[in-house]
Amino acid sequence: MIEAAQQLLAPWYLQIKFVHLVFVAVWFMSTSVAYRFYLVPILREWMKSPRDVDAVRMRNWAMERFDDGAILEHVAFPMLLITGPMLMIGGGWTPAQGWFAMKLVMVVLVFIPIEVMDYYLAHFAGNKEKIRARGDQQAYEAAMHTHWWFLMVSSPVVIITIPYVIYLVVVKPF
Ligand code: HEM
Repeated sequence: MIEAAQQLLAPWYLQIKFVHLVFVAVWFMSTSVAYRFYLVPILREWMKSPRDVDAVRMRNWAMERFDDGAILEHVAFPMLLITGPMLMIGGGWTPAQGWFAMKLVMVVLVFIPIEVMDYYLAHFAGNKEKIRARGDQQAYEAAMHTHWWFLMVSSPVVIITIPYVIYLVVVKPF
């Protein structure tokens, strides 16, 4: 079964890797400018004066836009989880290769848990626009605080682990 899949995928290895790489770029960078140069300054202003009407209005607008902006990242991630295993099978890579084992550890223990929470906060029950449409101000405030805390905690983690995974797969140090 694996042999048959490998024979099927091997001739397309570089094309699959091209698709994998394009979605790595979209996944890694699509929210970075919005986060660093829009969300962070706006949320910092809000934290300085949490009752200021304009600061709260800007916070709400920015967070709701950020929820939608994450769509690019959240389309790219499943594409990595599809093309990655295709490359693994097509290239005959196994966790016996240290770089690949460490990469899978990062994917399973870091990226997938963070993305599951990110999907929930941006598009499902945590989507701010949907909560606002329900008119539940308390839930809206709680969702804002939860998402902001999640971003403050998860951003330093991904800023380190994503370049590390790219280093692992390009340099294959062990
Ligand atoms: C989720 C985050 C992921 C990131 C950031 C990522 C990153 C990358 C990058 C940058 C490359 C290109 C390396 C090069 O051109 O030399 C690559 C290739 C590859 N990736 Fe991923 N990948 C991810 C997920 C996965 C998953 C889930 C798997 C497998 C289950 C996987 C398996 C592979 C394989 C086998 C290669 C080819 C290595 C080679 O030909 O040298 N990747 N990945």
